[in-house]
Amino acid sequence: MEQREQWGSRIGFVIAAVGSAVGLGNIWRFPYMVADNGGGIFFLVYLFALLTAGIPIMILEFGIGHKYRGGAPLSFAKMNRKFEWLGWWQIIVCFFIAVYYVLVIAWAMSYVYHSLSLGYADDPQNFFFGNVLGLTGGPFELGGIQTQLLIPLVLAWVITFLTIYTGVKAGIERIAKVLIPILFLMIVIIAVRGITLPGSAAGLNFMFEPDFSRLFDFKVWTAAYGQIFFDLSIAFAIMITYSSYLPKKSDITGNAFATCFTNCGFSLLAGIAVFSILGHMAHSQGVAVKEVAGAGVGLAFVTFPAAIATIGGMAPLFGILFFLALTFAGLTSLISINEAAIAALMDKLDMNRQKVTIIYTGVAAICSLLIATGAGLYILDIVDHFTNNFGIVFGGLLQVLLVGWFFNLNSLQDHINSASQIKAGSWWVFCIKFVTPLVAGYTGIMTLISDIKAPYEGYPQEALLLMGWLVLAVIIAGGFLLSTLKWKNEQYLIEGVKN
Ligand code: PHE
Ligand code: NA
Repeated sequence: MEQREQWGSRIGFVIAAVGSAVGLGNIWRFPYMVADNGGGIFFLVYLFALLTAGIPIMILEFGIGHKYRGGAPLSFAKMNRKFEWLGWWQIIVCFFIAVYYVLVIAWAMSYVYHSLSLGYADDPQNFFFGNVLGLTGGPFELGGIQTQLLIPLVLAWVITFLTIYTGVKAGIERIAKVLIPILFLMIVIIAVRGITLPGSAAGLNFMFEPDFSRLFDFKVWTAAYGQIFFDLSIAFAIMITYSSYLPKKSDITGNAFATCFTNCGFSLLAGIAVFSILGHMAHSQGVAVKEVAGAGVGLAFVTFPAAIATIGGMAPLFGILFFLALTFAGLTSLISINEAAIAALMDKLDMNRQKVTIIYTGVAAICSLLIATGAGLYILDIVDHFTNNFGIVFGGLLQVLLVGWFFNLNSLQDHINSASQIKAGSWWVFCIKFVTPLVAGYTGIMTLISDIKAPYEGYPQEALLLMGWLVLAVIIAGGFLLSTLKWKNEQYLIEGVKN
């Protein structure tokens, strides 16, 4: 058994954690969520969700990883052998997310290339859905592999592979230290250009104008709390894994606050960048911002490309900046989600990093190549809906219930506070034991009921069964199965052991 790897510095850890948290979600999901859920009001509710659920869980996960020094399954098994199942549940969630998340990165990479000639500007809708996706009529019409996506896909996997293969400090920490500052710089440049364009104010108003009537709208609250887990990379093993590489004396709460606020600040910047430019497009077309603001993938790959073309002379440069930003944000998240699974397998099988990395990224890469078909967007949409709303939300719910109610939470609290400047006090215990379980339970069950009542997005039932409910069953049953397998080296399970 080797000594567990460690981050090179505190800042290195925080940058890597920020690299995981700041992802595609911040750039294309967040701005639209704000605009769609009461503007400035959503932002307030989101801050509330951050304080009552996001930060407390981040502290909890940093505490668990730091104290038990293992990936999620090992850490949970050390807390209580019966908890190991939840660790594997979260790892399987990671696997499914990695397989589709990399597709979006591949689209972004190909858009960096197409920005050179603004090839997407003439007919952005058709360019994306037709040329890039080759979108078919439904989830079962595969329509063949989109060969032009193979190069970016392989590139994304090679970068991920090399980074993880190289190790925590020399690989993950180093690439985050390079990509994250550049990423912030690129978004700042786009935001500055955006707010100096005519019409940008209308875009920003559209995004931020508070609609006070929505303050007590439960949809706004579920949207805000729903965004929190995926946004911060919590409740799916990543932050437990990253904090297991922290040195003995570490300021847990300080690191958690830094990670959360940096992620949130980045979202704000991205929102300003995106909506100021959309405002400009609306202005130059003489229409209202509402008319041009599309949703979800459409925002990043259809609406925004159209908007970039209206900037004028420097348009290709800003296209490159935007899609490179999307690529960098995605890559550091993809690395983290694979590291979570690889670390878990290294622990369980007592195998070295290099071997596990080759096998695991190989399997995940092949799976992602196989779904890069004309039905890729449908598959992605369904798997994303089920992993996020059930895999992550119920996994997070179980986590706070088990650790908060069936474990000595105070012992963890003492551990967290031993080297932290800001103390995790009774506010923290209250959020973990009451607030988060109530909110996660409520939103999870509400989504479950609506999914049972009506098929998600009107997809055919067979597709939802195969790509949604079955995925969920694999997460639950597979997690259980993996937890029954023997540990290659039982020594790992002993608390306080030097690993
Ligand atoms: N936090 C990431 C985001 O906002 C989500 C994510 C993390 C996705 C890790 C995949 C892997 O996009
Ligand atoms: Na995020």
